[in-house]
Amino acid sequence: MCGIVGYVGPRSALGVVVEGLRRLEYRGYDSAGVAIISDEGAMQTAKKAGRIENLDAELAELTISGSTGMGHTRWATHGAPNDRNAHPHCDVTGRIAVVHNGIIENYAELQAELEQSGVEFSSDTDSETVAHLVAAELAKTAANGGADDLATAVRTICRRLQGAFTLVLLDRDHPDSVVAARRNSPLVLGIGDGEMFLGSDVAAFIEFTKQAVELGQDQLVEITREGYAITDFYGAPVEGKRFTIDWDLSAAEKGGYDYFMLKEIQEQPTAVADTLRSHFVDGKIVLDEQRLDAGVLREVDKVYVVACGTAYHAGLIAKYAIEHWTRIPVEIEFASEFRYRDPVLNRQTLVVAISQSGETADTLEAVRHAKDQRATVLAICNTNGAQIPRESDAVLYTHAGPEIGVAATKTFTAQVSAGLIVGLALAQARGTKYGDEIAAEFRALESMPEHIAKTLEGIEDVRTLAREIADSKAILFLGRHVGYPVAMEGALKLKELAYMHAEGFPAGELKHGPIALVESGLPVVVVMPSPMGRPLLHQKMLSNIAEISARGARTIVIATEGDELAAKHAAHLIEVPAVPTLMSPLVSTIPLQVLAAEIAQARGYDVDKPRNLAKSVTVE
Ligand code: G6P
Repeated sequence: MCGIVGYVGPRSALGVVVEGLRRLEYRGYDSAGVAIISDEGAMQTAKKAGRIENLDAELAELTISGSTGMGHTRWATHGAPNDRNAHPHCDVTGRIAVVHNGIIENYAELQAELEQSGVEFSSDTDSETVAHLVAAELAKTAANGGADDLATAVRTICRRLQGAFTLVLLDRDHPDSVVAARRNSPLVLGIGDGEMFLGSDVAAFIEFTKQAVELGQDQLVEITREGYAITDFYGAPVEGKRFTIDWDLSAAEKGGYDYFMLKEIQEQPTAVADTLRSHFVDGKIVLDEQRLDAGVLREVDKVYVVACGTAYHAGLIAKYAIEHWTRIPVEIEFASEFRYRDPVLNRQTLVVAISQSGETADTLEAVRHAKDQRATVLAICNTNGAQIPRESDAVLYTHAGPEIGVAATKTFTAQVSAGLIVGLALAQARGTKYGDEIAAEFRALESMPEHIAKTLEGIEDVRTLAREIADSKAILFLGRHVGYPVAMEGALKLKELAYMHAEGFPAGELKHGPIALVESGLPVVVVMPSPMGRPLLHQKMLSNIAEISARGARTIVIATEGDELAAKHAAHLIEVPAVPTLMSPLVSTIPLQVLAAEIAQARGYDVDKPRNLAKSVTVE
């Protein structure tokens, strides 16, 4: 959600900034803009609603040059997604330009104050207030004979702002530096040789440098060609945390695929293998990136899993595994609901927060609430050093690499794997499973990348099926046990990508409502449990298939290889390898990802950038 890029150095800032914006497109946006200070000291801006191509067309008409600049992709919150509301926003004199990610919650009050002093706003955004406030602060300081310093003025204004913000600002009168500040929204700094970069995430500058610095909460940074200086909002110097980016440009490129999502679906065996790596050493589960004492895990008597979207579905699977392996009650909750209903938490509660980006505002607030209530928080996250792992007591990183497609695929299977590792770690700490049982489960997990690869070999048939059903009005998804979260994930993928009505239901609930939706020809995807692993559930699912077939539905059944009964009753059969039940989502989800992507392509939609969606949702 909103992408930000900043640059100062010897290159053409426009080129660096626009390229950075392209790399951040995946975050989701509906308009884009840039501000570049020319070598003659002029503030040049361009902004356009719609895709970056629209901005490109606008830029083709202009001559913009200079080596200090910034850019922004906007995901509208306050004000419609049109040219006028696109960022950057300038103060009335055009001296200061600002781009912003987040929501300034007290903007109405600040706007009223500015309007009273005669400022006329030229957009409907909350962000514009910052440009005027900073300009007014600079004018006030100048009138009092103070230093004409953008960083000082921004610090003063940041102390007045409430809500979430990453701000990047340019000052026409000081063209050699860029100032940025953050609270609750992301920003990283890239260190080059004689040049500096800013980005919402490292993808913005990955092709120029692998050296980066995390900017902490309530911190401001000023970059120049020579270096950077970080302070808190009161001007006290802060040492930024440096890190080396451990993936390269090829990970952020399509590598011959039409869409990132298709590449990322194929990368799942590696994503799962990399996530499992080094978590089983000398016969024991190791959570090496955690800062948790084994004693803390031993005392846990209640687990909450909190997450949003796809991560929530991964959390549901974690719930089944943790309860089965440890006998600890687990509740799963949408992060956006969690803190508002006053959940019962205490020192013995473990909150597992799952978030690919580590930025999702709802999940972050849930983590904060849990910590306030003294619960222990373990994050499962795919982004090194993001806010959620930073604020958690411990983190288990998924190593899926960057995921550019907005719809999560490889990070989902990596999250499911991580959830299973947490289940085994808890079982080990609490002694609810013997060492050899844990070892056997982990070995089974280690064979999953192979099973995923085999599943991927068989997806051609899913593609053909997708094209056949691409014109359907709706598709239902049914599952039981861990097949239920898989059904929900299949339905979510289809909604996100193909804009088609889709719902995932527990198959047992069918007759309590959803069956009324079944009509002749309606495709219904059924995620079958294995006949060996869950014979009773298998039988019940066969009855569900019979019920919907009798009402004319076209059943598409995801079943274990060799499941003859499923083969007999399915209108269309998709086979997946036989694996342990709790690990089966790692294979049964794959055909559903492919189905959604193919249907979306058949309907002519952009698979990587579905409308209205953002990859990282940094507002509540
Ligand atoms: C957005 C994305 C989803 C994602 C969800 C949670 O809605 O579009 O794909 O599952 O946020 O994101 P997180 O980064 O917290 O896993």
